[in-house]
Amino acid sequence: MKNNKKAAKKPWGGRFKEKTAGSVEKYTESVSFDQRLWKHDIEGSTAHAKMLAKQGIISKADAEKIVNGLQEIGREIDEGRFSFSEELEDVHMNIEAALIKRIGSAGARLHTARSRNDQVALDMRLYLRAETERIGGLIKSLELVLMDIAEKNISVVMPGYTHMQRAQPVLLAHHLMAYAQMLDRDRLRFADALKRINVLPLGSCALAGTSLPIDRAYVAELLGFENVSENSIDSVSDRDFVIEFLSAAAILMMHISRLAEELVLWSSEEFSFIALSDAFTTGSSIMPQKKNPDVCELMRGKTGRVYGNLVSMLTVMKGLPLAYNRDMQEDKEPLFDTVDTLRATLKILPEMLQKTEFNTLEMAASADAAFSTATDIAEYLVQKGVAFRSAHEITGKIVRHCIDKGKTLHSLAIADYAAFSKHIGKDIYDRIKPAASVAAKASYGGTSAASVKEQISRLRKKII
Ligand code: ARG
Repeated sequence: MKNNKKAAKKPWGGRFKEKTAGSVEKYTESVSFDQRLWKHDIEGSTAHAKMLAKQGIISKADAEKIVNGLQEIGREIDEGRFSFSEELEDVHMNIEAALIKRIGSAGARLHTARSRNDQVALDMRLYLRAETERIGGLIKSLELVLMDIAEKNISVVMPGYTHMQRAQPVLLAHHLMAYAQMLDRDRLRFADALKRINVLPLGSCALAGTSLPIDRAYVAELLGFENVSENSIDSVSDRDFVIEFLSAAAILMMHISRLAEELVLWSSEEFSFIALSDAFTTGSSIMPQKKNPDVCELMRGKTGRVYGNLVSMLTVMKGLPLAYNRDMQEDKEPLFDTVDTLRATLKILPEMLQKTEFNTLEMAASADAAFSTATDIAEYLVQKGVAFRSAHEITGKIVRHCIDKGKTLHSLAIADYAAFSKHIGKDIYDRIKPAASVAAKASYGGTSAASVKEQISRLRKKII
């Protein structure tokens, strides 16, 4: 960042006698972070200039100079030859000042029928539109990886949990598909937010619109916006499209954090359900034997900053009177931080999952412990005509008996079973095997392999 000794002329300098204090320039500048919007700023200005010429507000020759000048500036920025100056506050004034320096009076006509208020809203929408589309694609890739792993492990049985206690056997594929379902809703939340992001604010000017004969629909068409905003005050005042993105991001990270938490648990010696790849774990500087799931922990941890960014924007906006207020410049860092965090997380998570080994024997063994198929006995009794509440009571007594006698459901003799209910026959032993228990859960959305396969194929169809 250049801080020119020679003061740069400010585009708004006309009514000022004294020069801005250095401390104020530092405090108010945004170019150190909003320069990331440069491409969108140029794209927006190019469309604006074309519209001004089409409407006869500026000459065709001036528009051509502006468009070419902006293109050259874009090339300079892209190649790292452009120096942004703090004194020129933000990316918009930096680019405009460079344009005027390059092409003179034609450049001075670009800001006709425009304000930085609608300009910054435009840049943010263009930026967020591209990022939202990209994030949708990344979520889709993650869903596909989960589906692949689910398909490859379609017969692996694991314990399903409630209250973090073993509850009933489920398929690993079913458990993983639960995350795929959450992620698919996340993907759709972003897709839905995109409809409200993809609205053109330019032409709202400072807040009131303009007396000049602009054509907003034409600018919308050039920039690929589906709609033109209806109210100039609203267009420069609100950042709900940013907040909506941040809230979809917070929900997404909440889901990812839960998955990360399970991977941390599952990779522990205590669970031993998975082995994370060496490439996606780190060691300890003191304990040589350690292999730590730091990537998963950071996914869990970074969820906190993504929530924070949402709360920060909600707080920035909550007391603002209409229309634009400079507070709104504070929208950028939280948004950029969330975008960066999502992109990094969504890139690494599918790679890590693909390299994770599932310890299927350990999972299956755990699924067969802790009376996990007791509910199957109750349902067996229901099929024999016993009321569910009685079936529950009888099964509870069987479990109690097993605990007292140090037996499992498998090792309890048929005569003992029969003592609890005359309806229990030898076929009970087949029913209480975890694989049989899972296979029997053929209800729509249940954990049987047939049902999970259908679930996978429906989700595949939905996202392709
Ligand atoms: N840098 C400003 C922002 O990000 C651009 C808009 C400034 N408008 C103004 N009237 N000062 O919000």
